[in-house]
Amino acid sequence: MQKDLKNLIIIDHPLVKRDLTLLRERKTPSFQFRAILRHLAGLMAYEVTKDLKTEKIDVHTPLEKTIGYKITEEVILVPILRAGLGMVGGFVEYLPDARVGHIGLYRDEETLKPVDYYFKFPKKLKDSLILVLDPMLATGGSASAAITFLKNKGAKNIRFVSIVASPEGVRTLNMAHPDVRIYTTALDRTLNKKGYILPGLGDAGDRIFGTGD
Ligand code: PRP
Ligand code: URA
Repeated sequence: MQKDLKNLIIIDHPLVKRDLTLLRERKTPSFQFRAILRHLAGLMAYEVTKDLKTEKIDVHTPLEKTIGYKITEEVILVPILRAGLGMVGGFVEYLPDARVGHIGLYRDEETLKPVDYYFKFPKKLKDSLILVLDPMLATGGSASAAITFLKNKGAKNIRFVSIVASPEGVRTLNMAHPDVRIYTTALDRTLNKKGYILPGLGDAGDRIFGTGD
């Protein structure tokens, strides 16, 4: 891994690699792409939440009293529309109490700069763990803008969860938000002239929603 990249956690597991391969495959149709993305997001949820705060509680088994645990940290999922929506199902499966905010952003095709069009958040951003979900970290513009917005609204504890990241995107996010931990399943080679990740998996939103052709 490039030594200058910071706060980057690459989730390396055979089940993750299998799912990622199916997402990369250009012949994978939309209905499968959606199901695999959701499944992969669930696998990632396990790793991303492994240090959630817990509290000891009493639990009574049919035989005796023992120690159990409850999660004390509130989690807010914030998918970046559209593609981040494809990851929500996998996360809520493991975090059924999580609330969900939405940020609508799209990249201008010429400038590659993010354009915002929708924001809706639950309360308590300040005291919750915020997981920003977007499969693609390409130039890093969308992720940085989304996180800046969340911080302006009071969020303090933010993690960014992607499926594929580029070194350029990680650098941009590191510069803009050095406090934000970045999770991904693959650090790819680079970006092409149109800002697509190489080798990547193509346009995630189009592949999820079948809008590419
Ligand atoms: C994609 C992707 C990210 C963004 C990443 O969204 O889902 O949000 O591009 O690129 P960046 O790191 O260079 O900003 P897109 O703009 O295609 O919108 P869509 O999900 O609505 O199709
Ligand atoms: N957005 C995508 O959906 N894919 C890329 O490769 C880059 C940005």
